[in-house]
Amino acid sequence: MKILFIGDIFGNVGRRVLAERLPALTQEHGIDVCVGNGENVSGGRGMTKNLFRKLRKYGLNVITGGNHSFSVADNDFSFMDEPAAVRPLNYPPANPGHGSTLFTLTDGRAIGVVNLMGRMFMHESFDCPFRAGLEAINELRKQTPVVLVDFHAEASSEKAALAHYVDGLAGAVIGTHTHVQTADERILPKGTAFITDAGMTGPENSIIGMKPEGVVKKYLLQTYVRFEPSEDGAMINGVIIDIDDKSGKASSIKRLYERVSFT
Ligand SMILES: [Fe+2]
Repeated sequence: MKILFIGDIFGNVGRRVLAERLPALTQEHGIDVCVGNGENVSGGRGMTKNLFRKLRKYGLNVITGGNHSFSVADNDFSFMDEPAAVRPLNYPPANPGHGSTLFTLTDGRAIGVVNLMGRMFMHESFDCPFRAGLEAINELRKQTPVVLVDFHAEASSEKAALAHYVDGLAGAVIGTHTHVQTADERILPKGTAFITDAGMTGPENSIIGMKPEGVVKKYLLQTYVRFEPSEDGAMINGVIIDIDDKSGKASSIKRLYERVSFT
């Protein structure tokens, strides 16, 4: 099964890039399933119901989340209960939605997707992503050998540790959240494809998506500064992973980093 994973889709630029490039990329690479992280799609923070629908329309089969899954104030989060939406599994369970899902292709093959969030430099009070993740992967493997994990985390060591912990059980562990694509994609000894971070689909001339001026000002003054999403320079970041349908082990992982100019 060939999977295209799209790194954090950021704001207006991220949405435009997806609308422009996703259909062609899917065809060019013979993609079976598209998964993307949508937690920054609403102006850089959160995802609304309407934007979730838009991402689905552009061609994403499953949309994952992270620390901004619930960042839009007064949002109607009922869409989180739909099978195409996942938010980190290790959020306190009273929150809407679920942390894992099963997507079935038209030919009957299926992929399980698990979304987890890191604790280091993030939410230390969250449930253990290692234990929660292992349990979810084992549950999904009762239904399909093909399982992908989006591990939304800050620390590269935590992401690599989780990937090694589930090596051979998940076909892929893809890191998200930092918005900076890493060049360490590889297949671990027991067959799990791994990259520390898939990167960002959004404005390249930015600081992790935001206009540089505001972020620089915050570092200089150490006070609250309202960040504005950048609209400058469009790019699509992600990875293409090939996972064997029978064994659930990965045979390849390739980075995708394209600059996009709108037609
Ligand atoms: Fe994040």
